[in-house]
Amino acid sequence: MPILSLSLARHLVPALQPLRALCRRGWLREADVDLLLRLLHPALRVQRVFARVAARRWVAEDMLALTLRCNGNERGWRAGQHVQVYLEQEGVRHGRSYSLTAVSADGRVELAIKRQPGGRLSTVLLDHLEVGQLLELAPAFGELQWPNDGRPVLLAAAGSGITPLLGLLREALAQGFAAPITLLHQVRRPGQRAFVEELQGLAERHRNLHLRWVISGEPGGRITRDQLDELPGEHLVTCGPRGFVEQLQGWWKRGGTLQVESFSPPEPLTVDERREVRLRFARSGQQVPGNNQGSLLEQAEASGLRPAHGCRQGICASCTCTLLSGAVRDLRSGALFAEPNQPIRLCVSVPHGDVEIDL
Ligand code: FES
Repeated sequence: MPILSLSLARHLVPALQPLRALCRRGWLREADVDLLLRLLHPALRVQRVFARVAARRWVAEDMLALTLRCNGNERGWRAGQHVQVYLEQEGVRHGRSYSLTAVSADGRVELAIKRQPGGRLSTVLLDHLEVGQLLELAPAFGELQWPNDGRPVLLAAAGSGITPLLGLLREALAQGFAAPITLLHQVRRPGQRAFVEELQGLAERHRNLHLRWVISGEPGGRITRDQLDELPGEHLVTCGPRGFVEQLQGWWKRGGTLQVESFSPPEPLTVDERREVRLRFARSGQQVPGNNQGSLLEQAEASGLRPAHGCRQGICASCTCTLLSGAVRDLRSGALFAEPNQPIRLCVSVPHGDVEIDL
């Protein structure tokens, strides 16, 4: 039985600032302080974000909305950003990114999770996660913003790309955005249309909101260039698989802003023939055997380290570390980086030979 309620534990978080500073300077070990804080409430931590599952509701045949109550370390989060959710299974820690569809000042956040066929983490979250359980979340990341200059907005999503756009839409309507908004959602089957009742309710209350669904699994179902040209909007915000957003990006010729977010990881480049290398993680004082195929993030994790990270796709920059010596190849561009003391993103960098990283 925790000594404090989660609400009281949240109130304690600002008072932990001196402890945070001592941990950052290395005068206290964060893991030791966390152990003591957990006695007060299992979700309380110096810096890490833990959250309790407050509610679950199905919002499409394959999508679940989870309401979570965070421990007070979720500072600066915005609806429309993404967070990495961690879950430990059989001693192995797994993480996946999901979008924040709502963020409120009392620490409640909502995430929407789509079932991925064969997806280990989404299956557990959708089918077995219970109200009251604790989850760890990484800091939020993501750059999508509501275009707030009063001109009409077109939101175009495919699949789970609806989730960050819904977060932005809810906030914009709550803040009184009055120009026309069109929300287009492309899904494969009618049952995959997400948050339908809520969206229809919003469209009834806000006459400036117009909804369109495209069912790509039906004949003639994919959005075409002519259909896009007919939709109103001067700003386009689009999110979905890479093929979808790149097509819209290529078609979009209007004067307003264009914001694009894709959740497909970059096409992995074929790297050189497999070679064994030495990896040295300087701050942790570890030297381990590695190879030139796996990302430095995966290889550091396999050695028991827990580097900070978010998207694992080279987008959020939260895994940035300093390359101290050696060379790494960027998996997105194939470029080699060998200059000492330059920042590299661990999740999209593979060692080109022996390397030393400030980790
Ligand atoms: S984890 Fe986001 S850039 Fe590496």
